[in-house]
Amino acid sequence: MKRLLVIGIGAGDPDHLTLQAVKAIAAADVFFIVDKGEVKQDLVQLRLDLIAEHGREPYRIAEARDPERDRTTPAYAAAVDDWRSRRALACETLIREELGDGQTGAFLVWGDPGVYDSTLAIVEEILRRGNVTFDYEVVPGISSVAALTARHRTSLTQVGRPVHLTTGRRLAERGATADDMVVMLDAHCSFAGFDDFHIHWGAYLGTPDEILVSGPVAEVGDRIRELRAEARARKGWIMDTYLLRRTPPADR
Ligand SMILES: C[S@@+](CC[C@H](N)C(=O)[O-])C[C@H]1O[C@@H](n2cnc3c(N)ncnc32)[C@H](O)[C@@H]1O
Repeated sequence: MKRLLVIGIGAGDPDHLTLQAVKAIAAADVFFIVDKGEVKQDLVQLRLDLIAEHGREPYRIAEARDPERDRTTPAYAAAVDDWRSRRALACETLIREELGDGQTGAFLVWGDPGVYDSTLAIVEEILRRGNVTFDYEVVPGISSVAALTARHRTSLTQVGRPVHLTTGRRLAERGATADDMVVMLDAHCSFAGFDDFHIHWGAYLGTPDEILVSGPVAEVGDRIRELRAEARARKGWIMDTYLLRRTPPADR
């Protein structure tokens, strides 16, 4: 039987790696890297550095190119489904051709594999198709949400209160759905207009490029927009996450 490990590696700081993740990396014979192209080379490099530091020789690295996703279509869900299926096919080929029986393969997943990541759905799709069989395990990682709240020295939850984890796209479509919202995958600063909220914003969390801003949206929103645009232009990509917390009426 082939064995697969889906290992959460944390949100950018090599020290985010848990001891469980370190042991899992040491147990792998083959690492699968799905390359997102030159722009995200930094993200691939962190994985290669972690493998070089914690992998146990002899191991191999098997790479495939991430299929392009159609970002122009308004049919977002259909475009993601299509991209996910093509990605599943690329991963299936890697597992079938590069992983021998009795061997352990590993995908190093950014942050936590359970937070806005397609790897688990892709692994299930590959198993459903039935062209290759394997056992798999998931190793949790420090998500960008945990990194964000820790760097801002704030709690994700308030006493007995819910938190809504959502995307920039949904925030823009639906408006405020809770007093506490964590927003990811936001390319458009969708916090604009949330003037009765406080924002804890973080970009490139855990990396040397990390940027942190916090304050009332009405006061710091423009600054975040400027910092974001400038950093994105400089590096060619950006990953940012933020917590929006409704300001108590007494503090408004
Ligand atoms: C595809 S999701 C992956 C999330 C990841 N599985 C996690 O647990 O954080 C990508 C989004 O995660 C957030 N993100 C990931 N790493 C980040 C970082 N180092 N700093 C800020 N945001 C990050 C951003 O919102 C980005 O758009």
